[in-house]
Amino acid sequence: MFGNITDIHSHSLWDIDDGSDSFEETMDMCFEAEDSGTGTLFLTPHLIHWEQAEDLYDEREEKFEILSECLEDHDSELMIKKGFEILCDDEIFNISYFKPYTLNGSRYILIEFHFYKTTYEDVVSWCNYLSSFGLVPIIAHPERYEFVMDNASCVEKLSDIGALFQMNAASPTGVFGDREAYVACEMLNCGYVDFIGSDAHDLRMRNTDILSNLEMYPDELNIDLFKKAACDNPNFILSDGLYKPKRLEHIENL
Ligand SMILES: [Fe+2]
Repeated sequence: MFGNITDIHSHSLWDIDDGSDSFEETMDMCFEAEDSGTGTLFLTPHLIHWEQAEDLYDEREEKFEILSECLEDHDSELMIKKGFEILCDDEIFNISYFKPYTLNGSRYILIEFHFYKTTYEDVVSWCNYLSSFGLVPIIAHPERYEFVMDNASCVEKLSDIGALFQMNAASPTGVFGDREAYVACEMLNCGYVDFIGSDAHDLRMRNTDILSNLEMYPDELNIDLFKKAACDNPNFILSDGLYKPKRLEHIENL
C-alpha cells in the first residue's frame, strides 16, 4: 500500500540529545523503522546552542559512522541520513554558514522554535534570514506552536515566503492535544504538509513506526496527501532538487 517512507525527523542517535538513551535503543529504533515501512531515516539531533554546534557536528559524524557499520553488519536495508533540528531564536542572526547543519547537506534545513513564546513575526524574520543564504526552511511540527494554533491560516503566509512544513505523524491522532490534531488535519487536507516526521525520541510513545498512527487518524484525513508527503516529496531533499509545493485550499482557523 505504501512505498518507501522517508522519515525526515528523528532523535534516534544515542546520547546526543533527549532522544535515544543507548546504542541498543538506537539499533531497535532503526529496526522498528525498517520493519514498519521506513526506507530512509533522518537522524536530526537538536541543535540548541550555536556555541556547541561544531562539537555536536563531530559527535554526530562519529556516531553516524558507528551506526552505519552496525546496520550493515545486521544486513539492514535502512538508509540513514544526517541532519539537525535547529532551534531558532535571534542568535541565528550571528550565524552565516549553515551547510553542515542542513538535511543531507542539501538546501533544506529543519528548524523548530520555542512552543509558546515564538511569534509569527519572529518566524518570518528567521525564515527570510535563512532564505537569504539560498536555504529552504522546513518548519518542524508547525501544528504544535501556540501562534499557529491561535491562527492556523498564518501558515499560508509562511508558505508564501518559501517555508515548507513537516507534520509529526502522531499529531492527527490527538496525542499532543485536540488543537494540534485539528491544525495537523487541516494543514494536511489543504495541501500544507510537505513532509512527515516521526520526531521519534524512543521506542515508546514517540517511536519510529510512522504507519502505526494511521489507524487512529480521523476518517476525513486525506491519506493520498499523507503518502505524497511521506514517500514522494522527500526525494527532493535526497536529491537536493527544487520542490514546489501545491497548496490546495485555504486553511480555516480553529
Ligand atoms: Fe524533534
